[in-house]
Amino acid sequence: MKNSVVTFQEMKDKGEKITMLTAYDYSTAKLVDAAGINSILVGDSLGNVMLGYEDTVSVTMEDMIHHGAAVARGAKNALVIIDMPFMSYQTSTYDAVVNAGRLMKEGRAGAVKLEGGTEMADVIKQITRASIPVCAHIGLTPQSINAFGGYKIQGKTLDAAKKLIEDAHAVEDAGAFAVVLECVPAALAEIVTKELHIPTIGIGAGSGVDGQVLVYADMLALFSDYKPKFVKQFANLSEEVVNAFKAYDAEVKAGVYPAPEHTYAISDDVINKLY
Ligand code: KIV
Repeated sequence: MKNSVVTFQEMKDKGEKITMLTAYDYSTAKLVDAAGINSILVGDSLGNVMLGYEDTVSVTMEDMIHHGAAVARGAKNALVIIDMPFMSYQTSTYDAVVNAGRLMKEGRAGAVKLEGGTEMADVIKQITRASIPVCAHIGLTPQSINAFGGYKIQGKTLDAAKKLIEDAHAVEDAGAFAVVLECVPAALAEIVTKELHIPTIGIGAGSGVDGQVLVYADMLALFSDYKPKFVKQFANLSEEVVNAFKAYDAEVKAGVYPAPEHTYAISDDVINKLY
């Protein structure tokens, strides 16, 4: 059955862990879906993983719609959440609602995600008023990399921890159906999870949260530019992929591939009449 934001809340209420992985294309979405993962995030991390940018700042609405729609076509059961890219919702609540609407109508998302806490409460309120479910994202918010001055753990001082808890309540009160906690100390993420009614989805936030999200290319070791501490590589596909590419290169050059079983036949009659 297709997962929805209601499924998320039911899972939290029953104490069941929620799983989420990113995907950016149809074929990967089908694999994630086949594995029974509850939700697929079309993260703006596609800027790093798919497009080779050094951060997510340059990702556009068109990028998110293009990749989001492909994922939506491949996801039969998983809830598809599409990230709102940098500057698609920070400029005004009007822009935010229009752009969230495009991700739903053109990207076929089941929900959108945006970064920010207290300062984004109005935006979350207006988008949810348009019947668009919003997943919030607090802690380390990569779109603010230039303001943060780097990718750093968030919420470590007393003031920062209080601010994180305040942000979590603000997004819940504004109507978010879930909140991603990125790069937050485990004990703090656990406090937030206990205080909130909506599910918390952690990435670099320990195990005391309601669910986990990872970038699929990180957990398969397909993305090699850097590896955050919180990433566990569940497979090393880059090694397998490079070996397969090497085997193809060798077989083509040796005339081994394509073999007869990879070719299409034609009757000798036809061939003979060509001369
Ligand atoms: O863009 C993304 O992939 C994300 C996750 C890291 C939560 O926002």
